[in-house]
Amino acid sequence: MRLLQFAFAVALASGVAAILIYITGVSKPYGPHILSDEDLEALRSLQSSFQKCVSSNGLGLQAISGRDICEITLQFPSETDSKWIDPKTGEPEGLLFNLNICEAVATWEQVRNSTTILTKEFIDALPNGWEDYAWQRINKGILLNRCVNKALCMEKLSLVLPETPPYFPRQFGRCAVVGNSGDLLKTRFGKEIDGYDVVIRENGAPIQNYTDYVGTKSTFRLLNRGSAKALDKVSELYDTGKEVLIIKTTIHDIMNKMIQEIPIWNPVYLMLGASFGSAAKGTGLKALEFALSICDTLDMYGFTVDPGYKEWTRYFSESRKGHTPLQGRAYYQMMECLGLIKIHSPMRPDPNRVIKWVPDRSTVAAARIASEKLLRRVGAGSGDPLGACSIIKKQVRGKRAVVSSIRKAAIEHRKYVKETTMYPLEHDPGHGLLCTVPTS
Ligand SMILES: *[C@@H]1O[C@H](CO)[C@@H](O)[C@H](O)[C@H]1NC(C)=O
Ligand SMILES: *[C@@H]1O[C@H](CO)[C@@H](O)[C@H](O)[C@H]1NC(C)=O
Repeated sequence: MRLLQFAFAVALASGVAAILIYITGVSKPYGPHILSDEDLEALRSLQSSFQKCVSSNGLGLQAISGRDICEITLQFPSETDSKWIDPKTGEPEGLLFNLNICEAVATWEQVRNSTTILTKEFIDALPNGWEDYAWQRINKGILLNRCVNKALCMEKLSLVLPETPPYFPRQFGRCAVVGNSGDLLKTRFGKEIDGYDVVIRENGAPIQNYTDYVGTKSTFRLLNRGSAKALDKVSELYDTGKEVLIIKTTIHDIMNKMIQEIPIWNPVYLMLGASFGSAAKGTGLKALEFALSICDTLDMYGFTVDPGYKEWTRYFSESRKGHTPLQGRAYYQMMECLGLIKIHSPMRPDPNRVIKWVPDRSTVAAARIASEKLLRRVGAGSGDPLGACSIIKKQVRGKRAVVSSIRKAAIEHRKYVKETTMYPLEHDPGHGLLCTVPTS
Protein backbone atom coordinates (compact mmCIF):
# COMPACT_ATOMS: atom_id res chain seq x y z
CA MET A 1 0.00 0.00 0.00
CA ARG A 2 2.75 2.40 1.02
CA LEU A 3 4.54 1.54 -2.17
CA LEU A 4 1.45 2.22 -4.24
CA GLN A 5 1.01 5.59 -2.60
CA PHE A 6 4.59 6.40 -3.29
CA ALA A 7 4.25 5.35 -6.89
CA PHE A 8 1.13 7.48 -7.18
CA ALA A 9 2.94 10.46 -5.68
CA VAL A 10 5.80 10.02 -8.13
CA ALA A 11 3.40 9.72 -11.03
CA LEU A 12 1.57 12.83 -9.89
CA ALA A 13 4.81 14.77 -9.43
CA SER A 14 6.10 13.82 -12.85
CA GLY A 15 2.72 14.64 -14.31
CA VAL A 16 2.90 18.11 -12.78
CA ALA A 17 6.48 18.49 -13.99
CA ALA A 18 5.44 17.43 -17.46
CA ILE A 19 2.66 19.99 -17.46
CA LEU A 20 5.04 22.68 -16.24
CA ILE A 21 7.55 21.81 -18.93
CA TYR A 22 4.72 21.80 -21.41
CA ILE A 23 3.53 25.25 -20.37
CA THR A 24 6.96 26.87 -20.24
CA GLY A 25 7.96 25.03 -23.38
CA VAL A 26 5.10 26.34 -25.45
CA SER A 27 4.89 29.83 -24.04
CA LYS A 28 7.16 31.61 -26.46
CA PRO A 29 9.70 33.73 -24.67
CA TYR A 30 9.93 36.47 -27.26
CA GLY A 31 6.66 36.36 -29.14
CA PRO A 32 4.06 36.16 -30.23
CA HIS A 33 4.39 38.09 -33.43
CA ILE A 34 1.86 38.42 -36.13
CA LEU A 35 3.36 38.92 -39.52
CA SER A 36 2.04 42.00 -41.27
CA ASP A 37 1.18 42.06 -44.94
CA GLU A 38 4.48 43.85 -45.56
CA ASP A 39 6.36 41.09 -43.75
CA LEU A 40 4.73 38.40 -45.85
CA GLU A 41 5.34 40.40 -48.99
CA ALA A 42 9.03 40.78 -48.06
CA LEU A 43 9.41 37.03 -47.57
CA ARG A 44 7.61 36.27 -50.82
CA SER A 45 9.76 38.70 -52.69
CA LEU A 46 12.94 37.26 -51.14
CA GLN A 47 11.88 33.75 -52.06
CA SER A 48 11.01 34.61 -55.62
CA SER A 49 14.23 36.48 -56.39
CA PHE A 50 16.18 33.79 -54.56
CA GLN A 51 14.76 31.11 -56.83
CA LYS A 52 15.47 33.08 -59.97
CA CYS A 53 18.95 33.90 -58.69
CA VAL A 54 19.78 30.23 -58.15
CA SER A 55 18.63 29.21 -61.61
CA SER A 56 20.56 31.97 -63.34
CA ASN A 57 23.81 31.69 -61.32
CA GLY A 58 23.88 28.18 -59.88
CA LEU A 59 25.32 26.31 -62.90
CA GLY A 60 22.46 23.82 -63.03
CA LEU A 61 21.15 24.12 -59.49
CA GLN A 62 17.42 24.69 -59.06
CA ALA A 63 15.64 26.12 -56.03
CA ILE A 64 12.29 24.48 -55.34
CA SER A 65 9.92 26.00 -52.83
CA GLY A 66 8.94 23.82 -49.90
CA ARG A 67 6.09 23.51 -47.47
CA ASP A 68 6.31 27.03 -46.14
CA ILE A 69 7.64 30.39 -47.16
CA CYS A 70 11.06 29.77 -45.59
CA GLU A 71 11.83 26.31 -46.86
CA ILE A 72 13.70 25.87 -50.10
CA THR A 73 15.23 22.76 -51.58
CA LEU A 74 18.30 23.13 -53.74
CA GLN A 75 18.40 20.40 -56.32
CA PHE A 76 21.39 19.30 -58.37
CA PRO A 77 20.78 18.04 -61.93
CA SER A 78 19.99 14.32 -61.97
CA GLU A 79 23.09 13.55 -64.04
CA THR A 80 25.33 14.92 -61.27
CA ASP A 81 27.93 12.33 -60.39
CA SER A 82 27.93 12.21 -56.62
CA LYS A 83 31.39 11.00 -55.65
CA TRP A 84 31.54 11.53 -51.96
CA ILE A 85 30.48 8.53 -49.91
CA ASP A 86 29.18 9.09 -46.41
CA PRO A 87 31.34 6.86 -44.21
CA LYS A 88 28.45 6.38 -41.77
CA THR A 89 25.84 5.16 -44.25
CA GLY A 90 27.98 4.03 -47.17
CA GLU A 91 25.68 6.08 -49.41
CA PRO A 92 26.79 8.70 -51.92
CA GLU A 93 25.89 12.27 -51.05
CA GLY A 94 22.32 13.13 -52.07
CA LEU A 95 21.34 15.64 -54.74
CA LEU A 96 18.77 17.53 -52.66
CA PHE A 97 19.49 20.00 -49.87
CA ASN A 98 16.85 21.60 -47.71
CA LEU A 99 17.57 25.13 -46.63
CA ASN A 100 15.73 27.55 -44.43
CA ILE A 101 16.32 30.94 -46.01
CA CYS A 102 14.57 32.81 -43.19
CA GLU A 103 16.99 31.39 -40.66
CA ALA A 104 19.91 32.11 -42.96
CA VAL A 105 18.94 35.71 -43.64
CA ALA A 106 18.28 36.44 -39.95
CA THR A 107 21.52 34.89 -38.73
CA TRP A 108 23.86 36.13 -41.44
CA GLU A 109 22.54 39.70 -41.35
CA GLN A 110 23.23 39.71 -37.62
CA VAL A 111 26.81 38.63 -38.32
CA ARG A 112 27.37 41.84 -40.27
CA ASN A 113 26.81 43.88 -37.10
CA SER A 114 28.66 41.64 -34.67
CA THR A 115 32.15 41.36 -33.30
CA THR A 116 33.70 37.99 -34.00
CA ILE A 117 36.95 38.28 -32.06
CA LEU A 118 37.01 37.02 -28.49
CA THR A 119 37.87 39.79 -26.01
CA LYS A 120 38.41 40.11 -22.29
CA GLU A 121 35.49 42.52 -22.22
CA PHE A 122 33.23 39.73 -23.51
CA ILE A 123 34.34 37.14 -20.95
CA ASP A 124 34.06 39.69 -18.12
CA ALA A 125 30.53 40.61 -19.18
CA LEU A 126 29.28 37.08 -19.74
CA PRO A 127 27.58 35.57 -16.66
CA ASN A 128 30.00 32.89 -15.43
CA GLY A 129 32.23 33.89 -18.31
CA TRP A 130 35.47 32.97 -16.58
CA GLU A 131 34.22 29.85 -14.80
CA ASP A 132 32.48 28.26 -17.77
CA TYR A 133 33.17 29.89 -21.08
CA ALA A 134 36.88 30.75 -20.77
CA TRP A 135 37.55 27.18 -19.79
CA GLN A 136 36.09 25.93 -23.05
CA ARG A 137 38.54 28.03 -25.05
CA ILE A 138 41.59 26.55 -23.35
CA ASN A 139 42.90 23.19 -24.41
CA LYS A 140 41.22 20.54 -22.32
CA GLY A 141 44.32 18.39 -22.10
CA ILE A 142 45.32 20.57 -19.20
CA LEU A 143 43.62 19.77 -15.96
CA LEU A 144 42.00 23.05 -15.24
CA ASN A 145 39.12 22.80 -12.89
CA ARG A 146 36.61 24.84 -14.91
CA CYS A 147 38.75 27.93 -14.39
CA VAL A 148 38.16 27.98 -10.66
CA ASN A 149 41.62 29.46 -10.66
CA LYS A 150 40.74 32.53 -12.68
CA ALA A 151 44.27 33.93 -12.60
CA LEU A 152 45.64 30.80 -14.24
CA CYS A 153 42.96 30.87 -16.92
CA MET A 154 43.60 34.54 -17.61
CA GLU A 155 47.27 33.82 -17.96
CA LYS A 156 46.67 31.05 -20.46
CA LEU A 157 44.49 33.31 -22.58
CA SER A 158 46.51 36.47 -22.09
CA LEU A 159 48.52 36.29 -25.32
CA VAL A 160 45.43 36.00 -27.50
CA LEU A 161 42.89 38.07 -25.58
CA PRO A 162 42.62 41.78 -26.40
CA GLU A 163 40.81 43.97 -23.88
CA THR A 164 38.32 45.28 -26.47
CA PRO A 165 37.60 44.38 -30.12
CA PRO A 166 40.48 45.09 -32.47
CA TYR A 167 38.06 45.28 -35.45
CA PHE A 168 34.54 46.47 -35.92
CA PRO A 169 31.71 46.22 -38.47
CA ARG A 170 32.33 47.87 -41.90
CA GLN A 171 35.92 48.71 -40.94
CA PHE A 172 37.05 47.46 -44.35
CA GLY A 173 35.55 47.94 -47.78
CA ARG A 174 36.08 45.16 -50.33
CA CYS A 175 37.32 41.85 -48.98
CA ALA A 176 38.22 38.50 -50.50
CA VAL A 177 38.23 35.12 -48.81
CA VAL A 178 40.54 32.67 -50.56
CA GLY A 179 39.92 28.97 -49.98
CA ASN A 180 42.36 26.16 -50.67
CA SER A 181 40.65 24.30 -53.52
CA GLY A 182 42.75 22.76 -56.29
CA ASP A 183 40.40 24.62 -58.66
CA LEU A 184 42.47 27.73 -57.95
CA LEU A 185 45.14 26.45 -60.36
CA LYS A 186 42.70 26.67 -63.27
CA THR A 187 42.47 30.48 -63.38
CA ARG A 188 45.07 33.17 -62.80
CA PHE A 189 43.18 35.14 -60.17
CA GLY A 190 46.34 36.46 -58.48
CA LYS A 191 46.27 40.08 -59.68
CA GLU A 192 42.56 40.34 -59.09
CA ILE A 193 42.87 39.02 -55.53
CA ASP A 194 45.62 41.54 -54.77
CA GLY A 195 43.21 44.33 -55.69
CA TYR A 196 41.06 43.85 -52.59
CA ASP A 197 41.42 45.93 -49.44
CA VAL A 198 41.65 42.81 -47.32
CA VAL A 199 42.53 39.21 -48.21
CA ILE A 200 41.65 36.38 -45.85
CA ARG A 201 43.28 32.96 -46.20
CA GLU A 202 42.95 29.64 -44.43
CA ASN A 203 45.16 27.22 -42.55
CA GLY A 204 48.51 26.37 -44.12
CA ALA A 205 47.79 27.80 -47.58
CA PRO A 206 51.09 28.97 -49.11
CA ILE A 207 51.47 32.07 -51.27
CA GLN A 208 55.03 31.74 -52.52
CA ASN A 209 55.25 29.77 -55.80
CA TYR A 210 51.52 30.26 -56.45
CA THR A 211 51.21 34.02 -56.68
CA ASP A 212 49.84 34.01 -60.26
CA TYR A 213 46.89 32.04 -58.99
CA VAL A 214 46.38 33.14 -55.41
CA GLY A 215 47.95 36.62 -55.28
CA THR A 216 50.45 37.92 -52.75
CA LYS A 217 48.39 39.95 -50.34
CA SER A 218 47.35 38.39 -47.05
CA THR A 219 45.71 40.26 -44.21
CA PHE A 220 44.10 37.60 -42.06
CA ARG A 221 44.42 33.84 -41.76
CA LEU A 222 41.81 31.58 -40.15
CA LEU A 223 43.25 28.52 -38.44
CA ASN A 224 41.65 25.23 -37.46
CA ARG A 225 43.00 23.14 -34.64
CA GLY A 226 45.64 21.30 -36.63
CA SER A 227 47.09 24.41 -38.26
CA ALA A 228 47.02 26.36 -35.03
CA LYS A 229 49.23 23.77 -33.39
CA ALA A 230 51.79 24.40 -36.13
CA LEU A 231 51.64 28.14 -35.50
CA ASP A 232 55.37 28.49 -36.18
CA LYS A 233 55.02 27.05 -39.70
CA VAL A 234 51.95 29.15 -40.43
CA SER A 235 53.58 32.37 -39.32
CA GLU A 236 56.38 31.77 -41.84
CA LEU A 237 54.00 31.56 -44.78
CA TYR A 238 53.76 35.30 -45.25
CA ASP A 239 56.17 38.15 -44.43
CA THR A 240 56.61 37.47 -40.78
CA GLY A 241 54.42 39.42 -38.44
CA LYS A 242 52.11 41.08 -40.95
CA GLU A 243 49.28 38.62 -41.15
CA VAL A 244 46.76 38.50 -38.33
CA LEU A 245 46.16 34.91 -37.22
CA ILE A 246 42.73 33.91 -35.97
CA ILE A 247 42.24 30.59 -34.25
CA LYS A 248 38.86 28.96 -34.59
CA THR A 249 39.09 26.57 -31.68
CA THR A 250 41.13 26.70 -28.48
CA ILE A 251 44.42 28.04 -27.23
CA HIS A 252 46.94 25.37 -26.38
CA ASP A 253 50.04 25.55 -24.20
CA ILE A 254 52.20 24.71 -27.24
CA MET A 255 50.88 27.83 -28.98
CA ASN A 256 51.53 30.09 -26.00
CA LYS A 257 55.04 28.76 -25.85
CA MET A 258 55.64 29.37 -29.56
CA ILE A 259 54.24 32.89 -29.43
CA GLN A 260 56.61 33.78 -26.59
CA GLU A 261 59.71 31.85 -27.47
CA ILE A 262 60.06 31.80 -31.24
CA PRO A 263 58.70 34.57 -30.96
CA ILE A 264 55.71 35.02 -33.23
CA TRP A 265 55.16 38.69 -34.02
CA ASN A 266 51.81 38.29 -35.72
CA PRO A 267 48.78 39.34 -33.73
CA VAL A 268 46.93 36.15 -32.71
CA TYR A 269 43.27 36.08 -31.66
CA LEU A 270 40.53 33.56 -30.99
CA MET A 271 37.33 33.71 -32.98
CA LEU A 272 33.93 34.14 -31.40
CA GLY A 273 31.35 32.73 -33.77
CA ALA A 274 27.60 32.58 -34.21
CA SER A 275 25.93 29.18 -34.39
CA PHE A 276 24.56 28.09 -37.73
CA GLY A 277 23.78 24.48 -36.93
CA SER A 278 25.35 21.53 -38.68
CA ALA A 279 25.11 22.99 -42.19
CA ALA A 280 27.95 25.38 -41.64
CA LYS A 281 31.03 24.43 -39.73
CA GLY A 282 34.31 24.26 -41.64
CA THR A 283 37.15 26.76 -41.64
CA GLY A 284 35.95 28.15 -44.98
CA LEU A 285 32.63 29.14 -43.56
CA LYS A 286 34.19 30.61 -40.43
CA ALA A 287 36.43 32.71 -42.68
CA LEU A 288 33.34 34.03 -44.48
CA GLU A 289 31.71 34.78 -41.14
CA PHE A 290 34.72 36.67 -39.84
CA ALA A 291 34.98 38.61 -43.11
CA LEU A 292 31.31 39.60 -43.08
CA SER A 293 31.73 41.00 -39.59
CA ILE A 294 34.40 43.50 -40.71
CA CYS A 295 33.78 44.13 -44.44
CA ASP A 296 31.28 45.96 -46.63
CA THR A 297 31.41 43.46 -49.49
CA LEU A 298 32.81 39.97 -49.75
CA ASP A 299 34.14 37.98 -52.71
CA MET A 300 34.97 34.30 -52.57
CA TYR A 301 37.79 32.49 -54.42
CA GLY A 302 39.21 29.00 -54.21
CA PHE A 303 36.23 27.01 -53.01
CA THR A 304 35.16 23.85 -54.85
CA VAL A 305 31.89 25.19 -56.21
CA ASP A 306 31.73 24.22 -59.90
CA PRO A 307 29.99 21.14 -61.34
CA GLY A 308 32.16 18.10 -61.99
CA TYR A 309 33.54 17.48 -58.51
CA LYS A 310 35.89 14.49 -58.69
CA GLU A 311 37.87 14.52 -55.49
CA TRP A 312 38.77 16.92 -52.73
CA THR A 313 41.93 18.64 -53.93
CA ARG A 314 44.07 21.42 -52.51
CA TYR A 315 46.15 23.67 -54.71
CA PHE A 316 49.37 23.07 -52.80
CA SER A 317 49.33 19.38 -51.91
CA GLU A 318 48.01 15.96 -52.69
CA SER A 319 44.27 15.62 -52.60
CA ARG A 320 42.99 14.67 -49.22
CA LYS A 321 39.80 13.45 -47.69
CA GLY A 322 37.09 16.07 -47.75
CA HIS A 323 33.45 15.93 -46.93
CA THR A 324 30.01 16.84 -48.32
CA PRO A 325 31.15 18.85 -51.37
CA LEU A 326 27.64 19.13 -52.82
CA GLN A 327 26.21 20.42 -49.58
CA GLY A 328 28.99 22.99 -49.50
CA ARG A 329 28.27 24.11 -53.03
CA ALA A 330 24.54 24.40 -52.29
CA TYR A 331 25.21 26.41 -49.14
CA TYR A 332 27.58 28.85 -50.87
CA GLN A 333 25.08 29.31 -53.69
CA MET A 334 22.50 30.18 -51.08
CA MET A 335 24.87 32.73 -49.58
CA GLU A 336 25.42 34.31 -52.98
CA CYS A 337 21.69 34.50 -53.64
CA LEU A 338 21.09 36.15 -50.26
CA GLY A 339 23.49 38.91 -51.29
CA LEU A 340 26.20 37.93 -48.81
CA ILE A 341 29.04 36.93 -51.12
CA LYS A 342 30.05 36.87 -54.77
CA ILE A 343 31.47 33.59 -56.05
CA HIS A 344 34.53 33.52 -58.34
CA SER A 345 35.46 30.14 -59.80
CA PRO A 346 36.93 28.64 -63.00
CA MET A 347 33.45 28.57 -64.52
CA ARG A 348 32.65 32.06 -63.21
CA PRO A 349 35.93 33.86 -63.96
CA ASP A 350 34.63 37.27 -65.13
CA PRO A 351 35.40 39.74 -62.32
CA ASN A 352 32.50 41.89 -63.51
CA ARG A 353 29.97 39.08 -63.56
CA VAL A 354 26.60 40.43 -62.50
CA ILE A 355 24.68 38.23 -60.08
CA LYS A 356 21.30 38.36 -61.72
CA TRP A 357 18.24 38.46 -59.47
CA VAL A 358 20.19 38.85 -56.28
CA PRO A 359 17.75 40.51 -53.84
CA ASP A 360 18.56 44.16 -53.16
CA ARG A 361 19.50 45.46 -49.72
CA SER A 362 16.04 46.77 -48.93
CA THR A 363 14.38 43.43 -49.74
CA VAL A 364 16.94 41.63 -47.58
CA ALA A 365 16.42 44.10 -44.71
CA ALA A 366 12.63 43.69 -44.82
CA ALA A 367 12.88 39.90 -45.12
CA ARG A 368 15.31 39.82 -42.23
CA ILE A 369 12.86 41.65 -39.96
CA ALA A 370 10.01 39.36 -41.00
CA SER A 371 12.21 36.28 -40.45
CA GLU A 372 13.15 37.42 -36.96
CA LYS A 373 9.48 37.68 -36.07
CA LEU A 374 8.71 34.29 -37.58
CA LEU A 375 11.61 32.68 -35.71
CA ARG A 376 10.78 34.58 -32.50
CA ARG A 377 14.27 35.93 -32.17
CA VAL A 378 15.20 38.29 -29.34
CA GLY A 379 14.10 41.84 -30.15
CA ALA A 380 12.24 40.86 -33.31
CA GLY A 381 10.28 43.71 -34.81
CA SER A 382 11.27 46.20 -32.10
CA GLY A 383 13.03 48.66 -34.41
CA ASP A 384 15.46 49.37 -31.58
CA PRO A 385 19.07 48.94 -32.75
CA LEU A 386 19.81 47.34 -29.37
CA GLY A 387 16.68 45.17 -29.49
CA ALA A 388 18.58 41.91 -29.94
CA CYS A 389 20.78 42.56 -26.89
CA SER A 390 19.79 40.00 -24.27
CA ILE A 391 22.70 40.95 -22.01
CA ILE A 392 23.77 44.59 -21.69
CA LYS A 393 26.89 45.68 -19.81
CA LYS A 394 28.87 48.90 -19.54
CA GLN A 395 32.06 49.24 -21.51
CA VAL A 396 35.38 49.49 -19.74
CA ARG A 397 36.14 53.19 -19.55
CA GLY A 398 38.92 54.68 -21.64
CA LYS A 399 40.08 51.45 -23.16
CA ARG A 400 38.51 51.54 -26.62
CA ALA A 401 40.89 51.46 -29.50
CA VAL A 402 41.27 54.84 -31.17
CA VAL A 403 40.94 54.34 -34.86
CA SER A 404 42.38 56.74 -37.34
CA SER A 405 41.10 57.10 -40.91
CA ILE A 406 37.94 55.20 -40.18
CA ARG A 407 35.60 54.61 -43.10
CA LYS A 408 32.38 56.55 -43.46
CA ALA A 409 30.28 53.38 -43.51
CA ALA A 410 31.85 52.30 -40.23
CA ILE A 411 31.19 55.67 -38.61
CA GLU A 412 27.57 55.60 -39.72
CA HIS A 413 27.15 52.12 -38.38
CA ARG A 414 28.65 53.09 -35.03
CA LYS A 415 26.23 55.99 -34.80
CA TYR A 416 23.32 53.68 -35.60
CA VAL A 417 24.24 51.25 -32.83
CA LYS A 418 25.13 54.12 -30.43
CA GLU A 419 28.74 52.94 -30.11
CA THR A 420 27.54 49.58 -28.84
CA THR A 421 29.67 46.48 -29.35
CA MET A 422 27.63 43.37 -30.11
CA TYR A 423 28.91 39.87 -29.51
CA PRO A 424 27.12 36.69 -30.62
CA LEU A 425 25.85 34.43 -27.83
CA GLU A 426 26.37 30.98 -29.22
CA HIS A 427 23.92 29.08 -27.09
CA ASP A 428 21.12 31.60 -26.82
CA PRO A 429 18.11 29.96 -28.50
CA GLY A 430 16.72 33.36 -29.50
CA HIS A 431 20.06 34.37 -31.03
CA GLY A 432 20.37 37.21 -28.55
CA LEU A 433 23.55 39.25 -28.33
CA LEU A 434 25.82 40.31 -25.53
CA CYS A 435 26.16 44.07 -25.87
CA THR A 436 28.53 46.48 -24.23
CA VAL A 437 27.47 50.12 -24.23
CA PRO A 438 29.45 53.33 -23.63
CA THR A 439 29.57 54.49 -20.01
CA SER A 440 28.51 58.09 -20.55
C1 LIG B 1 58.85 27.03 -53.93
O1 LIG B 1 59.55 26.32 -54.93
C2 LIG B 1 60.91 26.08 -54.61
C3 LIG B 1 61.59 25.45 -55.83
O2 LIG B 1 60.84 24.36 -56.32
C4 LIG B 1 60.97 25.20 -53.37
O3 LIG B 1 62.32 24.95 -53.01
C5 LIG B 1 60.25 25.88 -52.22
O4 LIG B 1 60.21 25.04 -51.09
C6 LIG B 1 58.85 26.25 -52.63
N1 LIG B 1 58.22 27.03 -51.59
C7 LIG B 1 57.02 26.74 -51.08
C8 LIG B 1 56.51 27.63 -50.01
O5 LIG B 1 56.34 25.82 -51.47
C1 LIG C 1 22.89 46.34 -38.84
O1 LIG C 1 23.24 47.69 -38.87
C2 LIG C 1 22.66 48.44 -39.93
C3 LIG C 1 23.19 49.86 -39.86
O2 LIG C 1 24.57 49.89 -40.09
C4 LIG C 1 21.15 48.39 -39.82
O3 LIG C 1 20.56 49.08 -40.90
C5 LIG C 1 20.67 46.95 -39.81
O4 LIG C 1 19.30 46.92 -39.58
C6 LIG C 1 21.37 46.17 -38.71
N1 LIG C 1 21.04 44.77 -38.81
C7 LIG C 1 20.61 44.06 -37.78
C8 LIG C 1 20.40 42.60 -38.01
O5 LIG C 1 20.41 44.54 -36.70
